[in-house]
Amino acid sequence: MTECKVAVVGTGYVGLTTGACLAEFGHDVVCLDIDSNKIDRLSSGEIPIYEDGLQHLVSRNTEEGRLRFTTNSAALDDREFAYLCVPTPRRNDGSVDLSFLESAVDSLRPHLRPGAVVINKSTVPVRCTRFVEDRLRRPDVSVVSNPEFLREGSAVADFLKPDRVVIGSDDREAASRVASLYLETRAPIMITDAASAETIKYVANAFLATKLSFANSVAALCEAVGAEASEVLLGIGYDGRIGHQFLRPGPGWGGSCFPKDTRALVHIADEAGYDFALLRSVIETNETQFARVVDRIGQLAPGGLEGASITVLGLTFKAGTDDLRESPALEIVDRLIAAGATVTGYDPTVIDAVAPSWDVAGDPYSACEGSDVVAVLTEWDEFKDLDLQKVADAMRGDVIFDARSVVDRARATRCGLRYAGIGTR
Ligand code: UDX
Repeated sequence: MTECKVAVVGTGYVGLTTGACLAEFGHDVVCLDIDSNKIDRLSSGEIPIYEDGLQHLVSRNTEEGRLRFTTNSAALDDREFAYLCVPTPRRNDGSVDLSFLESAVDSLRPHLRPGAVVINKSTVPVRCTRFVEDRLRRPDVSVVSNPEFLREGSAVADFLKPDRVVIGSDDREAASRVASLYLETRAPIMITDAASAETIKYVANAFLATKLSFANSVAALCEAVGAEASEVLLGIGYDGRIGHQFLRPGPGWGGSCFPKDTRALVHIADEAGYDFALLRSVIETNETQFARVVDRIGQLAPGGLEGASITVLGLTFKAGTDDLRESPALEIVDRLIAAGATVTGYDPTVIDAVAPSWDVAGDPYSACEGSDVVAVLTEWDEFKDLDLQKVADAMRGDVIFDARSVVDRARATRCGLRYAGIGTR
């Protein structure tokens, strides 16, 4: 494989994973960030995020001289490719804040060599590749969209062995050059126009969110008609057109991507004159799921939520990450407190208090001390192996509400706990 000179602008979880994995493919990579403290930590081998396999990849490639970190834009001077991996946060109205992208583009302008390719990995509104081209004002440089489909917790594996690589540009030659960076993955590489690549990213996340809201709705239906959601979803999943993945009911979906991207797509569609009613309803169904979970916990607590003591096991938006952004668990905790409950949380990755209004315990059993209802809201493996007798002994009440279907129901019952879940009788 030909080794290429690559820059990655932005060292968040997408940028850092991109930089480390491209170096692993054998490319010569320099990662840039405006945060000098972060660059110092990265240069000394310290990884600011919890991501499986990333530490190892960064250390090895730094030691072998293929990966370095800097705040100095002059490092862009000899680069053939410059990735943009900066945040694109959501504004309250669902629109996307492009200010980080704008300043990153401005920092590239004076440095890029003629013939370089700018590769945008930040999730941006459709037609933003054109916006980057216009702002860059460098007709001798091509801009290509290359959306990321990385899941937190498995971002390294997703980058090294992706389902597909999508590259969008109206400049086919530039797109083919970008494709060559990914030959090592042996994944299908799809080259399309820029607007289609940008749309693929949003539509992929919108479809996955739709699947999840559908699964949560099916779980509610099963509760109403007395069916078992796990059986029903397993039963439909055998149909190859439906599949088994992404159909696990839960307390609602969250994280740094789905809530932001689904709202952004509704906004993009609105602005283009299309009312994406289905996706609006997918988002509303998720809001309803938070409310349903809180109501359910209220029904399970002996005297309702007012004055109840509730334990929440799992605070991150899913297992395998320390990310609390848009976590359904935190949304539910806020609603429980607003309804008058006292909440104690526990999560294997959360040590400090998250908010002054509730406590975070150092282990699951002390979190259950004096509790009326224990609610499992994140699917950490650790919760599968809980000593349920110890949980039962620590509690004041006897209800375990397993919103992620990780606790063994029969074992819970043997320990004197009343088991409740989502989509189950
Ligand atoms: C997601 C997309 O999967 C990824 O392709 C994109 O690049 C970024 O957004 P991520 O945010 O890391 O990745 O989370 P993901 O693993 O997709 O889970 C999203 C949410 O759905 C979580 O809250 C998770 O708990 C929930 N979920 C997922 C379920 O409730 N049930 C499931 O079956 C799967």
